[in-house]
Amino acid sequence: MVMNSYVIKKASPSDVIEIKKLLVYVWTFTFQSILSPYTIKKVTSVCFDEGLLASQVIDKTIAFFVVRDETDKIVGVANAREDENKVIILNRLYVHPALHEYGIGKKLLDEIIKYFQGAEKILLEVLENNVDSIEFYLKYGFRITGTNINIIDDVILHVKVMEKIVSSNKEKRVLDPTNECTIKRLLGNKY
Ligand SMILES: CC(C)(COP(=O)(O)OP(=O)(O)OC[C@H]1O[C@@H](n2cnc3c(N)ncnc32)[C@H](O)[C@@H]1OP(=O)(O)O)[C@@H](O)C(=O)NCCC(=O)NCCS
Repeated sequence: MVMNSYVIKKASPSDVIEIKKLLVYVWTFTFQSILSPYTIKKVTSVCFDEGLLASQVIDKTIAFFVVRDETDKIVGVANAREDENKVIILNRLYVHPALHEYGIGKKLLDEIIKYFQGAEKILLEVLENNVDSIEFYLKYGFRITGTNINIIDDVILHVKVMEKIVSSNKEKRVLDPTNECTIKRLLGNKY
């Protein structure tokens, strides 16, 4: 076993194509056995549209982070904004499947919460059949507070709403560009 380092950075416009590639890959991998190819194609093309991602990356109200491995490849993405009620709305949290359960998702979520000074709550929507992610969020301290329906053109997605109180989150912390996430990985693991 060796210790590999993963660095969390703010996303930049030049990252957009690679971010899109990762998001499409992770979404397809996660839902290929649950959703139809049509639904996957529709959702990934609408939600991970390059123009949309580019506008979100430069939007100063959005915290948009990427995780890079030691070869500088993007292996994780998270973005969120804060609404007028001091609620952090988590829009995306994605980690490359080969790196699941090594602490990267938790670290990204920690950074999102620390970023928003004075936020009182964090809220997200997760597909109701995304059991693994729901387990992850429950472990992080979220609870299920409701359900919702998202409509993307002719696709209807049933989601669970999850929330966590973060009111002890008093101090804003601007992301340290050298922030490192060191985890144990087997040498030579390909992803
Ligand atoms: C959800 C996701 C981001 C979690 O990222 P991750 O890097 O694998 O999670 P972590 O390694 O940080 O896990 C943190 C803790 O949750 C636990 N955990 C992670 N996935 C879990 C699962 N499927 N079931 C139970 N526990 C889980 C870990 O064991 C770890 O526990 P520990 O703190 O006791 O060690 C990742 O699985 C993912 O990208 N999934 C696909 C995309 C997706 O569906 N995103 C959510 C959209 S709303």
